[in-house]
Amino acid sequence: VRNKNKIIVGLEVGTSKVCAVAGDLSPDGVITVIGVGQSASQGVRKGEVVDIEAASQSIHAAVADAEESANVEIHSVIASVTGGHIRSFNSRGMVAITTEDGVITKEEVEAVLRNAKAVSLPPDHAVIHAIRQHFFVDGHDGITNPIGMSGSRLEADVHVVHGVRTRLTNAVRCIRHVPLEVENIVLGAFSSALALLSPQQQQLGAIVIDIGGGTTDYIVYAQGTVKHSGVLAVGGDHVTNDIAYGLRIPINRAEQLKIEHGSVLADDTTTTDVVALKREVGLPEQVFPKATISRIMRLRVEETLTLVKKEIEKQKLLDFIGEGVFLTGGSSQIRGIQQLAAEIFHLPVHMAPVSTVGGPKSVLEGPQFATAVGLLKYAQFAADAHEQAPRARFGQRFTKIFQKLRGLM
Ligand SMILES: Nc1ncnc2c1ncn2[C@@H]1O[C@H](COP(=O)(O)OP(=O)(O)O)[C@@H](O)[C@H]1O
Ligand SMILES: [Mg+2]
Repeated sequence: VRNKNKIIVGLEVGTSKVCAVAGDLSPDGVITVIGVGQSASQGVRKGEVVDIEAASQSIHAAVADAEESANVEIHSVIASVTGGHIRSFNSRGMVAITTEDGVITKEEVEAVLRNAKAVSLPPDHAVIHAIRQHFFVDGHDGITNPIGMSGSRLEADVHVVHGVRTRLTNAVRCIRHVPLEVENIVLGAFSSALALLSPQQQQLGAIVIDIGGGTTDYIVYAQGTVKHSGVLAVGGDHVTNDIAYGLRIPINRAEQLKIEHGSVLADDTTTTDVVALKREVGLPEQVFPKATISRIMRLRVEETLTLVKKEIEKQKLLDFIGEGVFLTGGSSQIRGIQQLAAEIFHLPVHMAPVSTVGGPKSVLEGPQFATAVGLLKYAQFAADAHEQAPRARFGQRFTKIFQKLRGLM
């Protein structure tokens, strides 16, 4: 039993920014944010590292910043992962109970979870998560913890998340290059959901959509468990690009227009409203109708959210979403996106503040911190073993993550 507080650090290497959040985990499981660090991302595209040297410098800057603000030294992190290569599916595992008295023990539970994730993935893929959903004992449904029950057959449903092994390994290598140890990797959307959703909201059913710079990550909870998850390699930067192409202006001007004057509401502006961009070196003064900007933005955001909806519809999950949609990530700050999402999903849409940990308001309200904060929750979550946590033999801590990616744990 641990009797001292533990410092844990969540690291999100996003397309737009790197964010490190240090948290204090008390022995009774209370997490408090004690420091944050941020830096602009270099060498990351669509959520994936494309330049290890550049990205690890950004990571170093964010972590040094967090060290200073929390007044701690950081040696290891839990990191979120994302990218268009990530896939997921639900799987059922089965084992016969062979103990003498027919009582299910921890060993049978571990065996059935192993069996559930021992499905044939593409050969170049590795499992990121096998999140337990529920168990069946002799076909009896809805069992959350079968240990101590008796039966002859144990089945388990799990949500398996997997991705291209080399791409995941490169994400880890980049962080180790800093150098920092990587304790585990966590799907970005899963992490955001852990920061935003209470157990009751997970029970009632909720969709979390994290719209970042280069990706849109989503996850669906119903009946208290993860039912579906996915990543689209499209985010707020594509909105900026569309504005730049559409208005024939440089990216930095498009980004400024998006943030200061952008909206996705068709009726947000009268047709005569205009935005003027001041003259700069090499660029003349330019005037654009607001309606044009919002039309361009709406097209892209509508398309992205509709794709997410279609994916969730395919899984027949829309009828199980009692709480509604929770928007997070930097691009959830786009004006009017809440209303647009409500029109698309026909569900209540919430702009979710981080609600499951304690700490400074500035962090808990900023949507761009949700993923990194959720990683602190994950540390606690893995400890609770809702998921089959990778277990390292003594002395193997530093290669644990690579063993996991090689499918050895
Ligand atoms: N106020 C704002 N309005 C609209 N978009 C914003 C705003 N602030 C940030 N963004 C957009 O959010 C995106 C970055 O979100 P973030 O969650 O930090 O990304 P990532 O996790 O991918 O690094 C960028 O595309 C940026 O343009
Ligand atoms: Mg992000």
